[in-house]
Amino acid sequence: MEEKIQKLTSSALTQINQAQNKIQLEDLRIQHLGKKGDLTSVLKSLTQLPIEQRKKIGKLVNLAKQEIITAFERKEKTFEVEKAAWIDVTAPGVKLQIGHLHPVTAAISEIVPIFERIGFTRTSYPEVELDYYAFEALNMPKDHPARDEWETFYITNDIVLTPHTSSGQVREMEKGKLPIRMLNIAKCYRRQSDVSHTPMFHQFEGLLVDRYVSIANLKGVLDYFVKAFFGPSRKSRIRPFHFRFTEPSFEVDVTCGVCDGVGCRLCKQGWLELGGAGMVHPKVLEFGKIDPTIWSGFAFGWGVERAYMMKESLKIDDIRILYENDMRFLEQF
Ligand code: DAH
Repeated sequence: MEEKIQKLTSSALTQINQAQNKIQLEDLRIQHLGKKGDLTSVLKSLTQLPIEQRKKIGKLVNLAKQEIITAFERKEKTFEVEKAAWIDVTAPGVKLQIGHLHPVTAAISEIVPIFERIGFTRTSYPEVELDYYAFEALNMPKDHPARDEWETFYITNDIVLTPHTSSGQVREMEKGKLPIRMLNIAKCYRRQSDVSHTPMFHQFEGLLVDRYVSIANLKGVLDYFVKAFFGPSRKSRIRPFHFRFTEPSFEVDVTCGVCDGVGCRLCKQGWLELGGAGMVHPKVLEFGKIDPTIWSGFAFGWGVERAYMMKESLKIDDIRILYENDMRFLEQF
């Protein structure tokens, strides 16, 4: 009898250890501990034994039973640990958070191909610029009052943080390659910080120099850009203005995207101001060593942030939020 119990126990323990999964383990539990299980039948057979032996064997059976129960519990735990580490390669994955381009970067990457399609090439020039290219070569000699509008950061008397992309005009002309179709997109800096200004912002500047260039050519490029960037229903107009480096000079307006030119809270009279443009001043061509009796051109310079806001019909209460890296704001684009 004692031998039988020992055999039963050791075979039960080996079987438990070899079980591959919970189902197998459950079958073993029924086989060894169930109502009709082998240990139970040993217990039942005890009635036939004399009382002394009954006590002894009964104890042995109970010890064996306890040993087997512990083995079951231990094995069950290993399945649970395995379950936690288990990987289902077919289960849907956890989505990674993907960022996106900053709205200004997104706007730039939209603007560039629009101009590339009509032959403009993107260029870049120093952001820390000589006063000469930022002002003097643009027909604004030292101490000229027109400079005041640019509220410039001076590094030294002769070096500035470029306050506009127009500083690229004469640099491009100096390359000596004609005709010119330049697109200069860059950071610009001015001593301004309020709800509608950031000390650093972006401009995109076009310069075209060729033979027989007229205002009609400028207007054609403006209309093309406005329709490509803002949408086919938007219109452009030019209004007389004054810049030292263009003659004649204009301000360019685009019909408001919210009211379609009728007038609303965003635009007031149906038009939104995009920026400046004009026919390149003969003096500027001369600074660039280009003969103004043969060559003529037009130029325009607009703010990227402004153009982007006009495109999306956004009226941001405080434009400085564009550069505050606030996820709650940026995630909306
Ligand atoms: N540079 C001017 C500004 O920052 C904008 C501008 C006006 C650029 C007329 C031009 C232009 O190229 O022709 O206010």
